[in-house]
Amino acid sequence: MKVEVGDAYNVRSQLLIIPLFEEEKEIKEIKDRGLIEFISRILKSGVFKGKIFETLFTVTDLTEPGYIIFAGMGKREQATLHDLRKVAGVVSKICAPKGIEKYGVLLRGSWSKKLSAPIWIEGLLHGAYRYMEFKSEKEEKASHEIKEIFLYNVKESEKEDIKNLCSISSNILRSVNVYRDIINAPSNYMTPAKLAEVAIEMAQRGKIKHKVFGLKEIEKLKMCGIIAVSKGSREEPRFVELDYSPVKYKNTMCLVGKGVTFDSGGISLKPWDGMEKMKYDMAGATAVLGTMDVISQMRPPVRVIALVPLVENLPGGSAYKPGDILKMYNGKTVEVISTDAEGRLIIADALAYGLKYEPDAMIDIATLTGACVVALGHEASGILGNDEKLIRLIKSVGEETGERVWELPLWKEYEELIKSDHADIKNVGGRDAGAIQGAVFLKQFVGDVPWAHIDIAGTAWYDNEKPYASAGATGWGIRLLSAVIEKFR
Ligand code: BES
Ligand code: ZN
Ligand code: ZN
Repeated sequence: MKVEVGDAYNVRSQLLIIPLFEEEKEIKEIKDRGLIEFISRILKSGVFKGKIFETLFTVTDLTEPGYIIFAGMGKREQATLHDLRKVAGVVSKICAPKGIEKYGVLLRGSWSKKLSAPIWIEGLLHGAYRYMEFKSEKEEKASHEIKEIFLYNVKESEKEDIKNLCSISSNILRSVNVYRDIINAPSNYMTPAKLAEVAIEMAQRGKIKHKVFGLKEIEKLKMCGIIAVSKGSREEPRFVELDYSPVKYKNTMCLVGKGVTFDSGGISLKPWDGMEKMKYDMAGATAVLGTMDVISQMRPPVRVIALVPLVENLPGGSAYKPGDILKMYNGKTVEVISTDAEGRLIIADALAYGLKYEPDAMIDIATLTGACVVALGHEASGILGNDEKLIRLIKSVGEETGERVWELPLWKEYEELIKSDHADIKNVGGRDAGAIQGAVFLKQFVGDVPWAHIDIAGTAWYDNEKPYASAGATGWGIRLLSAVIEKFR
């Protein structure tokens, strides 16, 4: 994808996108007479009101731009950069199926262009995405690729900076969309072994040290959480370890991602309704892998260890069962109450294993609980942890990137919930505070290391299509985590 920037004197693109606030009647930025007249005729007609997500797609009789789309931004005083990203998504979601490949954006609004330009890139590339791997119809399979984005109304002195920022965003979004494909891929294709292969290919490409453990090695390491969860499936587990070590660094970050390629619930079987969605139960794993992909290109001076346990949770004849007691990697014993609370078991082993690197911080990211979706819906991920400073960093990066997190408490009183009669802890303690229980459980495996847990059950997936995104995988977390790591130096 090519990014170009320039002034607004000479607007030539296949498509011109004009963002408009409510009640705007003229566009001052454009200098071309013919274009000004065309636009003002439309604005004066009143057919377009500028409401948020409203659009008007027009074909012009000017040769360039051939198409103009007006994109409503809502009330000027209320519009945020977060809205802008979504508006960009709305535009490309409409234009990509029309086969439009070269986009032009008239940068407007009171935001600094260094902030708004990369947001346009992100929104446009995110909105154009569709998962079409298994569509047979040629038309539906047609490429939705954006080949060029031209940003108009940029001052000469800012051109270089804006172009650089936009090409970073464009690279990140390429990763995001690649991993959306992997999340959307059905679990009969995207098995633990296949996802491990994807990780290795990425690591080789990015020159990151990598190791993959199979069942035998996982058994040798006594990662009993991972072993137990995988036992009900014929697909063997994998444990992926990536080590990005730049020549110079001060801090080490350890990332852990939940990689359940399908979560049926196991013996504690889930109801059929909606179970097909549980192919996205590896979106934590892809958030970590996508982040490593981005890091391998940006090369920040931070050592990053990525640990990704990969399993399939099925109720086969040798499946683990409620009542089973597992001795985990760190020696703690866990009574299994529900085999559907499997994510915390595999992440716990990975976190405990990660301590051997003596990291300065650990972050795990997981589609961990339905309770988190109930609490926060799809607009924010849950965040919990044992270190205020780390949580504060992630929160502020969340505001900047638009991948927002909201903190839930992790007071020691909650530990009562997971006390077990027969083992050290149990994996579920009733119905109360479900998202917190998940985190309280994980806390038992991180020692004193600053740690944060991000629950993306609600943000990783849209059940229904949005005006700015197709239904399915959102690719949430890659932008957040790569920006957190950039700052963790
Ligand atoms: N993968 C699910 C959590 C989930 C639910 C993700 C909905 C996305 C959407 C997780 O493994 C799970 O099943 N959690 C249980 C925990 C319960 C048994 C304590 C849940 O949330 O119901
Ligand atoms: Zn589950
Ligand atoms: Zn799960």
